[in-house]
Amino acid sequence: MTLSLGRQYVKRCDPADFEDPRVLEVLADILPERDPRAFVERKAWEFAMLALYLEDVGRLGDETEALAVGAGDERIVFWLANRLKRVVATDIYGEGGFAGNEADDSMLTDPASHAPFPYREDRLEVLRMDGRHLEFADASFDVVFSVSSIEHFGGGADVARAAREMARVLRPGGHAVVITEGYIHKPWLNSAPVDFALRLASGGRMRKRATPRRRAGVDVLTLREIERNIVRASGLELVQPFDLSLSAAAWENVATKHRDGRVETESGEFWPHVVLRFRGSTWTSICVALRKPE
Ligand SMILES: C[S@@+](CC[C@H](N)C(=O)[O-])C[C@H]1O[C@@H](n2cnc3c(N)ncnc32)[C@H](O)[C@@H]1O
Repeated sequence: MTLSLGRQYVKRCDPADFEDPRVLEVLADILPERDPRAFVERKAWEFAMLALYLEDVGRLGDETEALAVGAGDERIVFWLANRLKRVVATDIYGEGGFAGNEADDSMLTDPASHAPFPYREDRLEVLRMDGRHLEFADASFDVVFSVSSIEHFGGGADVARAAREMARVLRPGGHAVVITEGYIHKPWLNSAPVDFALRLASGGRMRKRATPRRRAGVDVLTLREIERNIVRASGLELVQPFDLSLSAAAWENVATKHRDGRVETESGEFWPHVVLRFRGSTWTSICVALRKPE
């Protein structure tokens, strides 16, 4: 069945989206403390795409049970708890590279201390769970989403396993929204075999994270990897074809990541924050909306 949708959701983050009155309206609700027009940013866009998609497909109400995978303490779970029947936020809280930040294990015991605004505490459950092994029965949720997380789950096989798990726990007719980091341009030298060869040749001093199948640099996916390891691996239907266009404004204030982790922008200011660059590769957020056939 073809869905009739009000806007393009399967797309890259673009400052042009911040001219859409509905995007501005929903952002004013999700991030009430700031003017959405003045703070053009990937993270805000990700929340807006998710919220507007759920509204568009009629899942932003008291009937919906939603699962967040790799949720950390993202504010959208609190915002959704104020609108949905049930929200379950899962992450490997207290473990992995984000344990001291987004995935602090205090989210398990005191989620309210992470909430940016009052929320319906009885609607939000927080569980420690690996996205590659979801501990729920098949067809448990109407909506499953993952924001800026799946690219950090490991190599391609790990991403594919997580995508299959998201599809498995989704009810027929349910919706999955996976927002990840997607390359705009990736030179061929930025590849797993090259990184792995450099690691071997340098006796392990260079490209320390590289394996024959995993690049050493940033956790960003190519379009082919998204198509293979998220769309096809999940077995879900893409609700629209990919729109990969970007307006000229996307290239304002590109943020360059340095090897020591520092991020430097062209203007010196953080905003607008849309495109990032690392060793000649560029990327931004990309939203993938999928549906489970009835
Ligand atoms: C960049 S953070 C994003 C957190 C949150 N979604 C947000 O947008 O603020 C990536 C998250 O993925 C989580 N993560 C990494 N590997 C995971 C796994 N195997 N299963 C579940 N979550 C995982 C991390 O703990 C972290 O919270």
